[in-house]
Amino acid sequence: MPHLAPPVVLSLGGSVLLRGDNDRKYLESLAEVLVRVAARRPLAVVVGGGPTARQYIDLGRDLGLNEVELDELGIAITRLHARLLAHLLGPDAPSSPPGTLTEAAEAVARWPIVVMGGTEPSHTTDAVASLLAERIHAGLIVNATNVKGFYAEDPRVNPRAPFVDHMGFAEFAEWVRVHTEGTAGQHFVFDALGARSVARSRIPLAVVDGRNLENLEAALEGQEFEGSWVGPGRKGRAPRKR
Ligand code: UTP
Repeated sequence: MPHLAPPVVLSLGGSVLLRGDNDRKYLESLAEVLVRVAARRPLAVVVGGGPTARQYIDLGRDLGLNEVELDELGIAITRLHARLLAHLLGPDAPSSPPGTLTEAAEAVARWPIVVMGGTEPSHTTDAVASLLAERIHAGLIVNATNVKGFYAEDPRVNPRAPFVDHMGFAEFAEWVRVHTEGTAGQHFVFDALGARSVARSRIPLAVVDGRNLENLEAALEGQEFEGSWVGPGRKGRAPRKR
């Protein structure tokens, strides 16, 4: 059956995938959501490393590994996470994560769902997801994270930080640039290379809490969702006040 809609790329944070809290139930339900979404359009999922990657990177740094070697450890963890999720998808997804954007694009043409991790050193899976979206002419990128969307500052540091409901492409690229400039490897809500790719490709980006599966499915389906939106117009809705 031909697909009716353009591909969607989901960037799934490693800290969303494995939280140490009901992970089995979450992963099984997530797999059901992904299979449903992929019935209507090609779906590519890029999985992050989360705290597990950081644990290896911190230990490796203490042991004297250099930045490229540390990135390689991080990439290996993201690919391990991709393999775990791919196995849950059964015949809908290849079990080996593609190692490059080209391999991923070729796999997207053949499989309903493709799950991958990182590719090469010096960026994060946000950049992989954004570049893959460009490569396969995706219509939407969804970033599933462990907060409800973008905040002007880190909400764990400042719980009163204002929520960012909507940003244009240029504004988004500038916001990420200002927060990441001159500090290689600094952890920010989105990767600088990924933000440049989003601004250049003008593929809209939805940011949601990845543990709220109903909301994640709405975002992947292009329906109204709770979270942040980068792009023209406003598709989602802001989170309810606590
Ligand atoms: P992540 O994409 O998980 O980075 O990759 P992150 O910033 O920790 O993202 P969250 O918290 O999961 O959302 C983990 C590490 O793997 C390396 C980097 O060192 C990154 O910090 N990596 C990942 C690469 O070097 N290249 C890639 O393509 C992907």
